[in-house]
Order: sequence, then structure tokens, then C-alpha cells
Amino acid sequence: MFRTKGCGELTSDDIGKDVNLSGWVFRSRDHGGLIFADLRDRGGIVQLVFSTDVSAETHVSAHQLRGEYVISVTGEVRKRPEGTENPDIPTGQVEIYVKTLNILNRCEPLPFTIDEAKEASESLRLRYRYLDLRRPEMMGNLITRHKACKLIRDYLDVQGFLEIETPVLTKSTPEGARDYLVPSRTNPGAFFALPQSPQLFKQILMIAGADRYFQIVKCFRDEDLRADRQPEFTQVDLEMSFVEADDVMILVEGLLKRLFKEVNGEDIATPIERMTYDYAMETYGSDKPDLRFGLPLVDMAPEALQSNFKVFLDVLSSGGKVKAILGKGMAGLSRKEVDVLTSEVQSYGAKGLAWIKIKDGFESPIAKFFKEDTMRSMTEKLQAAQGDMMLFVADSGKTVNDVLGRLRIEIAKRTNIIENKNSFVWITDFPLFEYDSEENRFVAIHHPFTSPTDADIEAILSGSVTNLSSIKSKAYDIVLNGSEIGGGSVRIHSPALQKKIFEMIGIGAEEAAERFGFLLDALKYGAPPHGGLALGLDRLIMIMVGAASIRDVIAFPKTQKAVCPLSGAPSDVDKKQLRDLYIKVNIPEKVVEVK
Ligand code: AMO
Ligand code: AMP
Repeated sequence: MFRTKGCGELTSDDIGKDVNLSGWVFRSRDHGGLIFADLRDRGGIVQLVFSTDVSAETHVSAHQLRGEYVISVTGEVRKRPEGTENPDIPTGQVEIYVKTLNILNRCEPLPFTIDEAKEASESLRLRYRYLDLRRPEMMGNLITRHKACKLIRDYLDVQGFLEIETPVLTKSTPEGARDYLVPSRTNPGAFFALPQSPQLFKQILMIAGADRYFQIVKCFRDEDLRADRQPEFTQVDLEMSFVEADDVMILVEGLLKRLFKEVNGEDIATPIERMTYDYAMETYGSDKPDLRFGLPLVDMAPEALQSNFKVFLDVLSSGGKVKAILGKGMAGLSRKEVDVLTSEVQSYGAKGLAWIKIKDGFESPIAKFFKEDTMRSMTEKLQAAQGDMMLFVADSGKTVNDVLGRLRIEIAKRTNIIENKNSFVWITDFPLFEYDSEENRFVAIHHPFTSPTDADIEAILSGSVTNLSSIKSKAYDIVLNGSEIGGGSVRIHSPALQKKIFEMIGIGAEEAAERFGFLLDALKYGAPPHGGLALGLDRLIMIMVGAASIRDVIAFPKTQKAVCPLSGAPSDVDKKQLRDLYIKVNIPEKVVEVK
């Protein structure tokens, strides 16, 4: 028998017992008459001792052991001698005196040791992912992910949800990123799109009467990748019939509460705080504000108007904004450091960064434009004190919020004020549309099936809307520590309203029918009011385990260039495969060079 116990399960209660263990040799140390080896399996590590006193033969074989050899042993559990216990591991009170050793498999010299994998380059880690995943920390992430998925399934099952699969080979969906396409051999020249989300199908399931649907599902988006984005990622996708936004939000809060309690042992205070989009943008410069620290953006227009600083006055007279943020304890920055900060802020899109240091008096190149009183009132508004710095940006409202929103996070990191806690917030009342200056038209912010608010619906149907950007939607995002971990909305269930919305964003009847016809048809046959949400599972788990990248919570992720170094995907394919698909690859020279 390979195993009577797992390596991580042995405790003082097992002292005196004989056990069979199997696993990988983590480290080994030769101390002459005694050879020590740490044996590792998924559940933990235990120390093996090969002693000439127990078995001379086994002791001789143990000399062959190297890192990552696969072995099975039988032996006796003994208490470690006084002073040699290891409090860092759960099995640290005991060790196994090995009677028989069976080397099941050898291991070639490693590209990196498991111990030091964390220091290896990420491309090497991804290429040898099976070695990287042997790290207890990485396997722990997968275990947490498993636990979370099980809990989510159990929770939603109790709440009456059905887990229903939706197609992977499908039509383009409305999330707005670039699609991954799959050619159809049986329909030459036609392509499937991999789903960016199951949005249309889950709405159709509501029309089909499924009532409550969920799925832990892969979604595919060909977009620029970042630390919290993958080309294929997982959503906890759900949809409910006969609900308002509140019903969905309360259900999701219940789910998150259980998840954090049972998987992380953490209590989430519910109801989770709600904040309107407008407030979040004005106060934190972001629709995913990190509320683990304060540092609100403060409007300084009244004070700017009392100054004679032309930069500020010009911006205000042309309809822009002047806002400031507190640089806590930053009055000590050298001129050079301020210059570096200014270029950083300029790289965010600002024209400049104005500042006032509060030392014994006010120190600033712009102090001469302000009255002492005005500077004092700005100090009060920002709750600034001796040793702090006030930082100002003047520009269009959008740029000011965006720049100061980013600066806010930068300052928080630098000054180490981010509290070690989980901070959830719902963002509500999103605008329905935003202006896309590249396409020169309004587009749906969430997706075009999101319902406007009741007041806006009336105005839309009666044709009295003049300003598209003023329409608010029944969309909501859930934000955790400055990361958007989920989003959803109440949907449009009236065909007439849906038609109107498409018209408003310049999607003609023909285009709508071509892209989403099957949903639009279904809406005509008795669609119940419905709404839902999707959580980004990878992001959620990443935060739960404290990982720095979502790649650390995905078994086989892709690199920033959307490549899988382990399998070598994407790769060239056989000429015959292409011929079968009637596809001819035609890459311009300059693209080949870039590659
Ligand atoms: P949305 O596009 O907001 O909504 O996606 C939901 C959540 O999925 C996560 N997410 C990602 N995670 C990793 N890599 C990516 N590339 C990526 N893109 C998105 C985010 C996001 O909040 N159909 C709607 C949901 C609905 O309306 O019910 C949708 O897909 O955490
Ligand atoms: P100037 O008068 O252009 O030399 O600018 C004086 C100070 O104001 C410098 O610190 C600039 O970085 C800063 N500044 C210039 N434009 C802006 C702006 N739009 N918002 C905030 N500060 C600015």
C-alpha cells in the first residue's frame, strides 16, 4: 500500500505507529549515520530519518535521494528529540524513522528548485508549471479556489439556482472586447466566436423559465492583458427572474459573506456600502475606488477663483475643474522628487502638478498667487497639517478625476496608509451610455441589454431625452480593495425599449438582428423581468489568497502576450488543417518582424 496517511497529517497522536507514506523528496541532508529528508505531498511535509540503527540497507539507498525523487516509505513515527522540533510546520513535533524505502521515480536536474521557484522568472515558472505548482503556496491557491467553487455551488443550489452549461462555440457576444474566432470546417468561411460571457444565453434561459441560473464558466476576451486580466478567465455567472437590482445584490452579498467566512475565516459586514458612480468618480476619481484608505479628491474651485493663478483661472473659465489631494507627510520631498512626481502625473495625462508644502509657512512656486487665508482654507478642506503637501491638478473634470484618482493610489502606496482589511463597495447608478470618441458615437457602458432607471425609461419611450450621457442605468459593480470583482444589471425585458436603445446608440434594426437577433426574437415571446451579475472568479480568489497576479490562482495561465509557455500555444498548424478550413495565412512582412 502506497499510503496509510498523508505527509501533512502526522501529529503527536501518531507517535509509536507504523505508517506508509508516498511523495516527493523536498530537501535532503546527509549527517553521516543519519540522513534526513523532507517528504512532501499535496497535504504537507514531514521529516524522514534514515538511520543505520533502523536499517543499514535503507540508509545506503537513501544516499541516492535527490530533490523531487518520488518515493514511498514505511516507517515508525517518533517524537523529535527535545530542541529539534520545527514549529513552522504542523508535523514539526514528529519524524519518521524509515524502515523500507522504495524509489518510484527519479528526477532530472531541475530548472529551478521548488524552494526557489518564486525567484525564477515567470516564463520559466510557466514553462515548467507542474514544478511551480508543486510549491505549497501555489497548490494552496488551487485548493482555496476549489473550496470556493464548491461553496459557491452549494450556496446557489440551496438558493434554488440551476447550473446550466451554455455553448463555447457560439456567436459574438456584447461585452465589447475583441472576439476569439474559431473557423467552422463544415461551414466554409463562417466562424464561431468564443463567448466573452454567457450573457445572451443566460437571458434566454430566463425566457425559457429556468428562473435562477448559474454557471462557473470560462469566458474569452482578446484584450490587452494586465496583472488582473487573462484572455480566458472564469466567471461565476448568474441570472434571476422576477427580481430588482436589490434582490441580486443581496443574494451576492450573502454569497460573498459565506465565502469569506468559510474559506478565509473573515467576517464581511453586510449590507455592503453602496456608492453612486457619480460620487465615486468625484470623490475617488475611479468607479472602482479602493476604500482601505481615505485621501478624497477635494474641489478647490472656490479657492482657485480667489487666486490670481492664471493656469487655474483659465481652466475654470473654460468649464474645467481644479481639485486637490493630500500628500500626507510629503512636505519633505526634495525638488527632484517633486519633479519625478510631476512627470508621473503628466504620464497620467495631466498638464502639470501644482503643489503647496506646509512647513513653517506655505512653501510653493504658486504661493505668490494665493492669499494666506485662501491657503489656510485649502489646508482645512484637505485636513492637511504641518509636514504635509497639497497637490493640485487643473484640467477637464474627466482628466482631473482620472489623474488624481491614480495619484491617490500612488500616494497611499508610498505613504503606506493602506489598511490591511477587505473593503467592499457596490457602485450603482452608472450612466447607461458613454461617448466613444474613436467611433464618434454613444456606446453602452455595460452592454446594450442593461435597463435604464424607471424614470429614464419613461423619458426614453416618450422621446423626451436630449442628453444621452445623463441617462442612468440599473447596473451595479461590486468592488473589493480597488478591484472590480463583479458586475451586473437588471436587463431590458421589453422588446420596444430594447429596440429604442439600439436606435439611440446607432445600432440599426438590421445590425441588431444580425448580431443579437436570437435574443431579440426571444424577448418577443414572454420575457420575464430579470437581472443578474457575474463575479470574476480569478480576481476574487487572487484577493482572497493575497496573490499579486491572477496568474497565481490559475493552474495554466497565459503570459502578458497571451501565450502558454507550457504547451506552446498558440502555434502554427498543419497546412492540411488550413486547407480543410479554406484558410490562407497572409501576414505582412512588418508584422512578422515584430513577432
Ligand atoms: P463584465 O464584463 O463586467 O460583465 O465581467 C464580469 C467580471 O469578470 C471579471 N473580468 C475579468 N477577469 C479576468 N480577466 C479578464 N479579462 C476579465 N474581464 C472581466 C471582472 C468583471 O467584473 N455579462 C456581464 C455580467 C452581467 O451583466 O451579468 C459581464 O460579463 O471581475
Ligand atoms: P507654470 O506657470 O506653467 O510654470 O506652472 C506652475 C506650476 O503649476 C508648475 O508646478 C506646474 O506643474 C503646475 N501646473 C501647470 N499646469 C497645471 C495644471 N493644469 N494643473 C495643475 N498644475 C499645473
